[in-house]
Amino acid sequence: MIRKLFHDYHSVGFMLVTGLIMGVVYFCGYDMRIIFDVTKEANLAEDYSFERCDFFDGSWVYDNVTRPLYKEKECSFMTDDYSCEKFGRKEFKYQFWRWQPHGCDLPRFNGTSLLEKLRDKRVVFVGDSLGKNHWVSLLCLIDSWISEPSSKVVEWHGSLITFRATEYNVSIDFYWEPLLVESNCDDPIKHRVLDRIMKIESIEKHAKHWIDADLLVFDSYAWWLEPNMTLLGQDWGKPMGTNCFNETEPITKKGYWGNDTSTGLMRTVESVVQDLRKKNFKIEILNITQLSQYRKDAHPTIFKRHWVPPTALELANPVKTADCSHWCLPGVPDVWNEIFYSYIRYRL
Ligand SMILES: *[C@@H]1O[C@H](CO)[C@@H](O)[C@H](O)[C@H]1NC(C)=O
Ligand SMILES: *[C@@H]1O[C@H](CO)[C@@H](O)[C@H](O)[C@H]1NC(C)=O
Ligand SMILES: *[C@@H]1O[C@H](CO)[C@@H](O)[C@H](O)[C@H]1NC(C)=O
Ligand SMILES: *[C@@H]1O[C@H](CO)[C@@H](O)[C@H](O)[C@H]1NC(C)=O
Ligand SMILES: *[C@@H]1O[C@H](CO)[C@@H](O)[C@H](O)[C@H]1NC(C)=O
Ligand SMILES: *[C@@H]1O[C@H](CO)[C@@H](O)[C@H](O)[C@H]1NC(C)=O
Ligand SMILES: *[C@@H]1O[C@H](CO)[C@@H](O)[C@H](O)[C@H]1NC(C)=O
Repeated sequence: MIRKLFHDYHSVGFMLVTGLIMGVVYFCGYDMRIIFDVTKEANLAEDYSFERCDFFDGSWVYDNVTRPLYKEKECSFMTDDYSCEKFGRKEFKYQFWRWQPHGCDLPRFNGTSLLEKLRDKRVVFVGDSLGKNHWVSLLCLIDSWISEPSSKVVEWHGSLITFRATEYNVSIDFYWEPLLVESNCDDPIKHRVLDRIMKIESIEKHAKHWIDADLLVFDSYAWWLEPNMTLLGQDWGKPMGTNCFNETEPITKKGYWGNDTSTGLMRTVESVVQDLRKKNFKIEILNITQLSQYRKDAHPTIFKRHWVPPTALELANPVKTADCSHWCLPGVPDVWNEIFYSYIRYRL
């Protein structure tokens, strides 16, 4: 079934393996070094090429001059899941880190150029709330580049949220489909079920909502790690064996991987993607897991809206209620989007 779908269509897919694992490096090689000053991005040549640079091998650099790329309060698409400042976070250092690949610099994000590149196209993020986190970050990055409010339209249709930049005839959508196949967690609001059940062969039911996209971004990961695919009745955003509450600094140990990183699953993703490539399906993996794992300081913890009100017992124990899966915005997903942007801008 999936094979048939992919045969019929020629879009570019991005696999975003977020949160706790990684993906595949797609810009490999170290023999070319391109260094330029990010503050002078305007001079960037059109033919700037990243083909030889590994975006994912780098480190976080404290930079309160060029970061953050937008302000939480000024983003008209911000939601209560990621607005840590609004929900009481008092130290903002997490907003001032820039990702610095070792072999090159990331180009500075330019919303106009992105929208021009995407003119007449439809981009769909398909996945779970980490994918939504990524999508909201992209809208926040684009927001200030479109001055006319009436040219930015958001519409809800059940599992599908559509953002349209009308002047460019671009739509950038989010489609809620946490397990990527049909499952009992597909309701965009009520998906906190105890036993996850999915139809592993059934993708068409949802795919009809995004199959015509020019660019697809998939993410689905954290949910697969739940023991027996159940939710245990708590907020699902629990890290396995770690906690991010009260953390204010990134991890600086080079090559750090969380205890819970599932290398087996990474290899599976890699081999599935290679299979798809052999079938002429254009697909890339953004290997952002490790760069994200360094950022134990950048999660909402308790500074977010609680969709399920915490009990008194939970409130007394913030370490247990902390959300260590999603990311405050501005923050880490902006870097995923800077990489995504670089790819769209210079590789498509
Ligand atoms: C993804 O990047 C990390 C470094 O951040 C690397 O260790 C890992 O091997 C990469 N994954 C693949 C499949 O190349
Ligand atoms: C930026 O950070 C440096 C070093 O921590 C500090 O000295 C400086 O005052 C900061 N500037 C702003 C504008 O916050
Ligand atoms: C952004 O891109 C547009 C179109 O490519 C260009 O005209 C503009 O100068 C760029 N803006 C900045 C600040 O680089
Ligand atoms: C907008 O883009 C769609 C493709 O996504 C295309 O079919 C349509 O003709 C475009 N509309 C205009 C007014 O250019
Ligand atoms: C998962 O299912 C297996 C088999 O039914 C059971 O033995 C195990 O205890 C379950 N694990 C959890 C964490 O529920
Ligand atoms: C990782 O695993 C080691 C050994 O099992 C344990 O000592 C350590 O506390 C774990 N670290 C985290 C962050 O869970
Ligand atoms: C979190 O940090 C605050 C302020 O430094 C401290 O008072 C509190 O005990 C810490 N809580 C935990 C659970 O570490």
